[in-house]
Amino acid sequence: MIAINEKIRLAKPFLKWAGGKTQLLGEIENRLPNGFSTGQFITYVEPFVGGGAAFFYIAQNYPEIKKFYLYDVNSDLVNCYNAVKSKVKSLIKSLDEIESSFLSLNQENRKKFYLDIRKQFNHEKINNGGVEVAAKLIFLNKTCFNGLYRVNSKNEFNVPFGDYKNPKICDRENLLAVSEILQLAEIVCGDFIKSKKYINNKTFVYLDPPYRPLNATASFTSYSKDSFSEQDQIRLADFCREIERKGAKFLLSNSDPKNENKNDHFFENIFKGFDICRVKASRMINCKAIGRGQISELLITN
Ligand SMILES: C[S@@+](CC[C@H](N)C(=O)[O-])C[C@H]1O[C@@H](n2cnc3c(N)ncnc32)[C@H](O)[C@@H]1O
Repeated sequence: MIAINEKIRLAKPFLKWAGGKTQLLGEIENRLPNGFSTGQFITYVEPFVGGGAAFFYIAQNYPEIKKFYLYDVNSDLVNCYNAVKSKVKSLIKSLDEIESSFLSLNQENRKKFYLDIRKQFNHEKINNGGVEVAAKLIFLNKTCFNGLYRVNSKNEFNVPFGDYKNPKICDRENLLAVSEILQLAEIVCGDFIKSKKYINNKTFVYLDPPYRPLNATASFTSYSKDSFSEQDQIRLADFCREIERKGAKFLLSNSDPKNENKNDHFFENIFKGFDICRVKASRMINCKAIGRGQISELLITN
């Protein structure tokens, strides 16, 4: 496996995100299609960008790829990406101010401050975001419990305070580096299906959808008000067939239901005809013990 740290990686995900793929980058790199570094692929599409670990890695290590199309259904996340892309200086200024105010408080007042920013965020985001809202999301992400993003039925962010001693809130250097890389990208809010207009035979598509829960009580799929059902996983498999028909290459990651039930052939059935391999990963966002050890994940390619 290639040692990821030996390669250039300046800009890194600026948000903690459930299902972040930093730990799988080596496995992903090993499965990139033949011809990946020869100019055969000039566009990259990531329909479920989340924190964007794979995007940042590929954008900085494969200059042959000229254009990146990033999609996510989460409008708060997309607003944040676009603020980092287009207005990074004012974003840093706002975030710096929030950080200084927060760090000057004692722990009890920090919690009150957090709840106040959360309230403002939920109120202001209704009017379509902007830089201030983006700065608040980054602050909430760095100070909330476990770096989770979760909303209630009214689409209000409702994660409790995280109680960290000295959270790094405004990573100026990384935000500037991220902004530079994002100049190569279009970041769009919408369902994954909409990304198909950018896919052709010179495109590589990396898909990291919300996981199919490992068991009935796991709730990894609540990234946004629209959850990702089993029907959506099937819709996604059909989308992958369309990617194939367009002559593009894809790599898709998902949880492996065989961790729980050896006889669960869901993915073998819906991805019949594609290559399915299993790699080891540690599941981190779930607080339950079952999610903490080494589990196997699926990487599916055409
Ligand atoms: C597993 S996360 C992606 C994590 C990402 N690979 C990373 O490294 O952080 C899945 C993402 O899909 C998004 N999502 C959920 N349903 C979607 C849909 N129908 N279309 C596009 N994106 C969707 C979620 O908002 C979430 O950000």
